[in-house]
Amino acid sequence: MSATIIDGNAIGKQVRAELRAEVADMRSRGIVPGLTVVLVGEDPASQVYVRMKGKAADELGMKSDTLRLPADTTEADLLALVDRLNADRAVHGILIQLPLPKHINSQKVLFRMSPDKDVDGFHPVSVGRLVIGDRTGFRPCTPAGVQELILRSGVDPRGQHLVVVGRSLIVGRPVANIFLQDAPGANATVTVCHTKTRDLTAITRQGDILVVAAGRPEVVTGDQIKPGAVVIDVGVNRVEDKTTEKGYRLVGDVKFSEAVEVASLITPVPGGVGPMTIALLMKNTVQAARQLSA
Ligand code: GUN
Repeated sequence: MSATIIDGNAIGKQVRAELRAEVADMRSRGIVPGLTVVLVGEDPASQVYVRMKGKAADELGMKSDTLRLPADTTEADLLALVDRLNADRAVHGILIQLPLPKHINSQKVLFRMSPDKDVDGFHPVSVGRLVIGDRTGFRPCTPAGVQELILRSGVDPRGQHLVVVGRSLIVGRPVANIFLQDAPGANATVTVCHTKTRDLTAITRQGDILVVAAGRPEVVTGDQIKPGAVVIDVGVNRVEDKTTEKGYRLVGDVKFSEAVEVASLITPVPGGVGPMTIALLMKNTVQAARQLSA
């Protein structure tokens, strides 16, 4: 039996349509949600992401600004910019695109941001707000997108065993914290696996919901999945493929051809979690604007 595919493009579109209506309503009350994205240097992947973020904000009727700074920008200058953005009332959300050049201490810059504008959800105050269940905090966009995909696919995590593979600060840990909440759309029993986990398969096979963010191509195979599980693949990896025009193709952290025969629902790569990240960044920015204008 083949699993039903969770269409991240369609669900992301749904989320953005709801936001468009909300932004229109805010604009009618004189509030224009504003997102400022800061890019330091010329990392090609970052340039693509930043362009996509700006475009998504524009399409929703938000005010978006992209500040492109040279690669040799000093840490002091970047910190001064963050201070200015923190104080600017037209800026509701700030996103510092990562990675930053090596001579800049990323943690220092991220910590300088006002947690009330931290739409990436990386500031320690945002992390704390998530852990204690304070909904005024911002949740990292990819993990929040994973939750939207699951809920909008008609799956209630309550009481289910949700297994996360990967403990990164950006995906694994926030995914665990989101689904552990005593709140609608959560209340799962959560297990987090990582590189030191003993007998990984024995644990992943217990997952009614399996979220994989291992950061390695196709490492979770069909035999590691509980029959009928919901599988969310957060991985995006380029693997060489000379049969394609670009010489590579994108694969997830899950071996899709095997997993699709075992799971009940599964996200593809690309077209699964990916489109949700930007949708949730927009949602966080609207939340920031709402909270800062209240
Ligand atoms: N670089 C790659 N992904 C992200 C992200 O989600 N946020 C930021 N700030 N930088 C990134």
